[in-house]
Amino acid sequence: MAMVDGSEQIVVRHNGPLAGEVRVPGAKNSVLKLMATALLTDGVTTLTNVPDIADVAIMADLLAAIGVTTAWHPTEDRTLLLTNRGEISPVAPYELVERIRASINVLGPLLTRCGKVRLSLPGGDDFGSRPIDMHMKGLEAMGATFEIRHGYVDAHADRLHGATVTFDFPSVGATENILTAAVFAKGTTVIDNAAREPEIGDLCNFLVEMGSDIEGIGSSTLVVHGVERGSLRPVTHEVVPDRIQAATYIAAAAVTHGEIRLRNARCEHMEMLLRRFADMGLEITPQEDGMTVWSSGRLRSIDVATLPYPGIATDYKPLIVTMISVGEGVGIVTENLYPGRFRYIEELQRLGADISTDGHHAVVRGVAQLSGAPVRAPDIRAGAALVVAGLAAEGETVISGIHHIDRGYDDIVGRLRALGAHIERR
Ligand code: UD1
Repeated sequence: MAMVDGSEQIVVRHNGPLAGEVRVPGAKNSVLKLMATALLTDGVTTLTNVPDIADVAIMADLLAAIGVTTAWHPTEDRTLLLTNRGEISPVAPYELVERIRASINVLGPLLTRCGKVRLSLPGGDDFGSRPIDMHMKGLEAMGATFEIRHGYVDAHADRLHGATVTFDFPSVGATENILTAAVFAKGTTVIDNAAREPEIGDLCNFLVEMGSDIEGIGSSTLVVHGVERGSLRPVTHEVVPDRIQAATYIAAAAVTHGEIRLRNARCEHMEMLLRRFADMGLEITPQEDGMTVWSSGRLRSIDVATLPYPGIATDYKPLIVTMISVGEGVGIVTENLYPGRFRYIEELQRLGADISTDGHHAVVRGVAQLSGAPVRAPDIRAGAALVVAGLAAEGETVISGIHHIDRGYDDIVGRLRALGAHIERR
């Protein structure tokens, strides 16, 4: 499993156009959910195209505490084996849950399988409060009762029943928990205004392969016909490619005016983003199994607002802000999901970016050249954006706090170096 060392740094030096080919790893935001969903079935679940990232190791620790053991396949690359012997303890302790937001994804599977669960309130990235009221409301409609005491949530439901759950907002995590909980519920559950992220499609497909009955996959109305407990089977499933990591390599090519080929990337999962990248002057050509990206001149600025899928994901935003900050003109970037998610801007300013914020808007004025400096990664995506900024900054950029980057990026240093970047860990 990927190791985390708090003292390491990534050092990036300005260099010319990136060139070559990069294989995009599997998606963090899918694999963590698939791992949690392995709680639903006894036997050995096999996941392929698994990114070697710290969050996978943390989720493995959490599942081990609950009763599912995880190991890398002895010979197959990036293949994870999850063994569920049916001895499940539906308790998710604080020390593990507080480390990743996705730990909340054990709630649905444990409740529907065991009829009860005791879960520490979740942590994760530090961008403002991330409540779980929608998860609880949806599960309550299905017959669950909740009690919150001493930082723990206790949930009960001998057997959940089907219900219509209508979200005010298409929450990714809440959609996933209702979906997995509905698998063993009695009757039919309808999830209205469900989140439609490709990682949710991946979870639906995984559940169907295991024997669940789900209609409307990919749409905002998911219909789940409950099946009997014990009727799912363990399967082998390939994790969907990571669109955020893909966007990171595109951004790296963009700010260095490079030409790269992305393998194992899905253009159809990034449609809106790729359209906006084209508006910025990037030439992106879909290929079988990926795309080519060419950045021939200075980028043009754009205005962007983050939205649930199929809109521009909030996780792309630090990359887009970085790209605009070395582009031509002024761009306004609006955050609609996490009000606090502008903390990395101070770090970009240290590199010479001209950005001001007003509420949930960032006004980015392109500068001709960033200049290298020591910076600190505040979270996963912002950390990766600082790496990208470092590629475009004259001199040396030293990024600390890279344990954040390791949470979601599978060997970003090796991948960028293979594209010709001057980058190292030390
Ligand atoms: C997931 C992703 C994260 C991404 C986010 C939005 C994972 C592990 N994380 O997070 O990278 O940035 O989707 O695309 O997959 N909310 C509530 N009450 C709830 C649930 C959510 O108010 O019960 C709010 C959140 O505070 C936030 C917004 O809804 O402001 C979006 O949250 P949600 O879609 O649930 O995101 P996550 O699943 O936490």
